[in-house]
Amino acid sequence: MIKNLHITTDSNFTIKPISAEETYAIRQPILRAGKPIDDCKFEGDTLESTFHLGLFFNDTLIGVASYMKNHHANFSEEYQYQLRGMAILKEYQKKGLGTLLIQAGKEELSNRKVDRLWFNARETAIQFYKNHGYIIEGKSFNIEGVGIHFLMTNK
Ligand SMILES: CC(C)(COP(=O)(O)OP(=O)(O)OC[C@H]1O[C@@H](n2cnc3c(N)ncnc32)[C@H](O)[C@@H]1OP(=O)(O)O)[C@@H](O)C(=O)NCCC(=O)NCCS
Repeated sequence: MIKNLHITTDSNFTIKPISAEETYAIRQPILRAGKPIDDCKFEGDTLESTFHLGLFFNDTLIGVASYMKNHHANFSEEYQYQLRGMAILKEYQKKGLGTLLIQAGKEELSNRKVDRLWFNARETAIQFYKNHGYIIEGKSFNIEGVGIHFLMTNK
């Protein structure tokens, strides 16, 4: 239905803050397929400093991304955030929507004057993140039950 739409100028798409609970509807099928809902709950999800962005097509939630204040030992900056649970529903992927979501996250982090963003990226999403200027730090590692990941960061 949304094939060939000019996503970035289409006003049917909106990004707004959502709750941790709302993210599960996307996290479960895309990031934790076949696993119980409890596996979709991340540590830090409900902290005051955490924010969750939801991407809507009209009133339907189709994508999510969560940003949590979290320090990674590889980096020295005081004010660090971790991106977690970035996912777009399968039928909406590769249409530029993940781009909208990650740009919105970048903007919010900039408003909050966050010094460092980092995340553990799935192998299959590396190119997407590279396209948005993020870089790999160090070697790949395995996350039990999820697969090969790379630590990525904004600088
Ligand atoms: C990774 C993910 C969030 C990216 O979201 P997305 O909406 O697919 O992202 P975009 O459409 O903005 O960009 C993805 C690719 O589609 C391409 N693309 C964008 N618009 C396009 C269009 N209209 N037609 C064809 N291709 C297009 C982009 O060039 C990009 O190419 P890449 O393969 O080099 O990355 C999404 O694919 C996803 O949820 N994947 C599964 C879960 C996952 O791996 N999450 C990340 C965990 S670390």
